[in-house]
Amino acid sequence: MLRPLEMAHQFLAEIMTKEDVVVDATMGNGHDTLFLAERAKKVVAFDIQEQALEQTRERLEKAGLSNVELLLTGHERLDAYVEEVKAGIFNLGYLPNADKSVVTQPQTTLLALEKLCQRLVPGGRIAVMIYYGHTGGAVERDAVLDFVSRLSQREFTATIYRTLNQMNHPPFLVMLEKIKDYNHG
Ligand SMILES: C[S@@+](CC[C@H](N)C(=O)[O-])C[C@H]1O[C@@H](n2cnc3c(N)ncnc32)[C@H](O)[C@@H]1O
Repeated sequence: MLRPLEMAHQFLAEIMTKEDVVVDATMGNGHDTLFLAERAKKVVAFDIQEQALEQTRERLEKAGLSNVELLLTGHERLDAYVEEVKAGIFNLGYLPNADKSVVTQPQTTLLALEKLCQRLVPGGRIAVMIYYGHTGGAVERDAVLDFVSRLSQREFTATIYRTLNQMNHPPFLVMLEKIKDYNHG
């Protein structure tokens, strides 16, 4: 059975092509950035920590990939950097092996998610990995679940993938797909 992060990758890989612009909203150590860069034309990747950019830059260099725009800025500003997006991923929470007090925040996460939903092309997909064991994590989890539950079913399909019998705070996945024949007009 796929773990939630594996499911997130598969969900996005199914629709990505070498023609597409995609977003990594939370670059971190660059695992998702690399995954996307191998499959898309261009990745626009965000993080607010210099350490994340350094790790990701190194990872991409080792893989010989140069199709990523690495941005040291919050994902809530993504509308200044992207227009049409085919796919996006959020990995919420803190950067492993770094300052655990720097975490994604409900307000900025929702702003970014809303902007990404607006810029998503029909048939495009967003994966949101939710980690909620840290302080404030449950508030962010609930804010994201509330936001995606309210999306119009005419415009989006919102799905959840989570284990039901694991101890502690197992991360889970929210998947969004913009309806293919959705027409803004
Ligand atoms: C769980 S980590 C991401 C892990 C990453 N996807 C990977 O593959 O290693 C969450 C990241 O979100 C970043 N972050 C926090 N607030 C942010 C914001 N407003 N915009 C962009 N990134 C943010 C943190 O600095 C941290 O690196």
